[in-house]
Amino acid sequence: MSTSTTTTTTDVARQLDVLTDLVTPWAMRVAATLTLADRIGDSAVTVDDLARHSGAVPDTVGRLLEHLAARGVFAPDGPHRYRNTELSHRLRRDHPMTLHPWLDIEGGMGQYDIGLSALLLAVRTGADAYTPTFGRSFFDDLNTDAERAAAYDDLMASLTAWTLPEILQAYDWQTVAHVTDVAGGSGALLAGLLRAHPHLHGTLVDHARAARTASARFAEEGLADRATALAGSMFDPLPPGADLYLVKSTVMGWGDGSGAADILRRCARAAGPGGRVVVAEFLRGAPRLVPSLDLYMALLGGKERTEEEFRALGAAAGLTLRDVRPTPSGYCLLEFTPDA
Ligand SMILES: C[S@@+](CC[C@H](N)C(=O)[O-])C[C@H]1O[C@@H](n2cnc3c(N)ncnc32)[C@H](O)[C@@H]1O
Repeated sequence: MSTSTTTTTTDVARQLDVLTDLVTPWAMRVAATLTLADRIGDSAVTVDDLARHSGAVPDTVGRLLEHLAARGVFAPDGPHRYRNTELSHRLRRDHPMTLHPWLDIEGGMGQYDIGLSALLLAVRTGADAYTPTFGRSFFDDLNTDAERAAAYDDLMASLTAWTLPEILQAYDWQTVAHVTDVAGGSGALLAGLLRAHPHLHGTLVDHARAARTASARFAEEGLADRATALAGSMFDPLPPGADLYLVKSTVMGWGDGSGAADILRRCARAAGPGGRVVVAEFLRGAPRLVPSLDLYMALLGGKERTEEEFRALGAAAGLTLRDVRPTPSGYCLLEFTPDA
């Protein structure tokens, strides 16, 4: 065997290991969930201390750290002691670019990650695999766990904070008087729009847990006179009267034949003639903030869509796609108007 063939074979084996090893991504999540990097901070800490801090068993904490240290995450610093590395620092909650909220198994993304065990079923059926696997829908599950739901809402709000400047820039909000944020989560987007545009009024519709948080946010930010949060379903009639119905990062959670068109149809009916519906999502094929999002959505029976798929979805819901405004991050604002 030639040297180059040997090198290639080794490279392929390494790449395959990276692609197929399920232990390391979970070990990273366990370390994040146990906040080991936070405990270590800028010094070196013993395995016993880390186990005590995280309410875990020293032997298994040691084996977890050994596994991760072999991959450059944490570094041994004397017998049974570890310090942080550049990689493990990113697990710290006080790091400005912390990965903790994304990796915490008990946090906002944990439910999606656990749900990945249903990906085979999702691929086989093309439908929501979360509900048959876990016994209730993703959001019904979320709504029963207040802490996890709060973490999920916070994570969504942090993504919104990140994309807000682009959303403000990409659309002429001066042409809007009243916006209804459908499935608006904890209100980060609506609050951001209203802060930037003092003429704007807004309504948010979401499940009761999110509507409560949004209400508190509006009050805290002094926006209660211009923003209202309503507990309700986007599959029921939406409050009429707004001139623009905004749906961000939500249509992707539903399939063409199972909900996505219904959401848009509700928006179209509430908007009425002369109204507008704006969907804000990443488009399939464009660079995306979370490259794996499409397969997370597949778990729920949803999907990211191309512009053409959105055009067809809108048509099925009585909407015509008028404009697509991309933003630098790949986020797009798709503007629809209801058909006469
Ligand atoms: C991915 S989050 C997006 C939240 C927000 N639009 C954002 O961009 O941050 C999806 C939202 O849909 C809400 N949701 C799910 N089912 C809903 C329903 N039937 N009616 C209203 N909201 C719903 C969830 O509670 C959640 O806040």
